[in-house]
Amino acid sequence: MDYFPLTVTKAPAFCNRKNELKRLSSNIQKLRPTLIVSPRRYGKTSLAINSINKAKLWCAKFDLLSVTDEEDIKNVILHGVGNLLVDIEKGVRKALRVATELFAGLNIKISVDTIGLSLEASKSSSKPAYEILTILERVEKIAQKHDKKIILFFDEFQRVMQVTEDSAIESVIREVAQLSNNLVFIFTGSNRHLLHKMFDDRDQPFYKLCDRITINRIAPEEYIPYIQHAAQERWNKSLEEIAINRIFELTERHPYYLNILCSRLWDDKICNTVIVEQEWHRYLQEEKSQVGAELDLLSKNQRKLLAALARHNGTNAPRSYKFQELARMSGSSISQTISTLEKKDYIYQNEAGYYNVLDPLIKAVLSKTTL
Ligand SMILES: Nc1ncnc2c1ncn2[C@@H]1O[C@H](COP(=O)(O)OP(=O)(O)OP(=O)(O)O)[C@@H](O)[C@H]1O
Ligand SMILES: [Mg+2]
Repeated sequence: MDYFPLTVTKAPAFCNRKNELKRLSSNIQKLRPTLIVSPRRYGKTSLAINSINKAKLWCAKFDLLSVTDEEDIKNVILHGVGNLLVDIEKGVRKALRVATELFAGLNIKISVDTIGLSLEASKSSSKPAYEILTILERVEKIAQKHDKKIILFFDEFQRVMQVTEDSAIESVIREVAQLSNNLVFIFTGSNRHLLHKMFDDRDQPFYKLCDRITINRIAPEEYIPYIQHAAQERWNKSLEEIAINRIFELTERHPYYLNILCSRLWDDKICNTVIVEQEWHRYLQEEKSQVGAELDLLSKNQRKLLAALARHNGTNAPRSYKFQELARMSGSSISQTISTLEKKDYIYQNEAGYYNVLDPLIKAVLSKTTL
């Protein structure tokens, strides 16, 4: 089996997150809306999908990552509802019949294509928010008809705020979430700055709507037995503690990078600290130009500050004279740049007050001048 998948992970490759799973299951039981928050690639989608699978409920998934406007949001919701109907009716033909009945009177083109049931909104004069309300109300009707709960999973929900001009769509979702007796809402998001604006501002519709689950990196005591089990399966022996620690240091236990490094290591015939170093170094070389292209999108000061944080492994005094010298920037530039980089999720401040680069790959590429 693939112990270190690079996409959404499901059991048995899903490690730990026991408390989070428990809380999410309890929220699903109680119909309590939940927001799952973490930086990119920590495992939000994996956590949601694993809880949904455990709950054994029908679910409509809405992946909002690529939406660019309100019409797109409406179509993503319709697409998710189409897949839900195919699941419920156990086939495309029956789903087509049900969808035609359910969406009668709405401007929705319903057809069967090679992928399955396709629901697409035709251009209409009414506001997308109003149509989304109607669509969600009809999903509620399906749940009532079957006397079952249905989970509505909005992945990358912060995109809604990014692409809409007002909070009409958020308002209708709030309305349905509060009034429904059958629909369970799960939202995930990665940009903490935007999520803070959406969920913590008393003037916004989502204020105090959700229970929030913040996920962090997986603890070493959870990872070690998992990795050692995978090592036994692969090489019939455990890894040396020093090799595991090196994996943890290099990837900073970031779930995605840990999986990348381990999936490469597990292709090798043996594994020790030297091979761990070599594999990580090779990975950095392969990714260097892509990281460079991403960093080119930042301003000169933003790159300078990121590099200073990467090379000195963060700081708890970014405006201090010492750090100003290290970064070769003035205190006021540092203050301004830190706040922009935090908003863009390039850096974070940990519980101890340390600012550091969030992504271990960017950090590694920036901290090494020779790759
Ligand atoms: N509990 C876990 N155990 C093992 N690996 C995990 C776990 N959670 C996530 N991963 C790994 O981390 C990576 C990211 O997972 P996932 O796509 O669920 O994260 P995400 O936070 O939704 O990411 P994105 O910000 O890209 O949407 C994947 O490679 C996945 O296999
Ligand atoms: Mg995701």
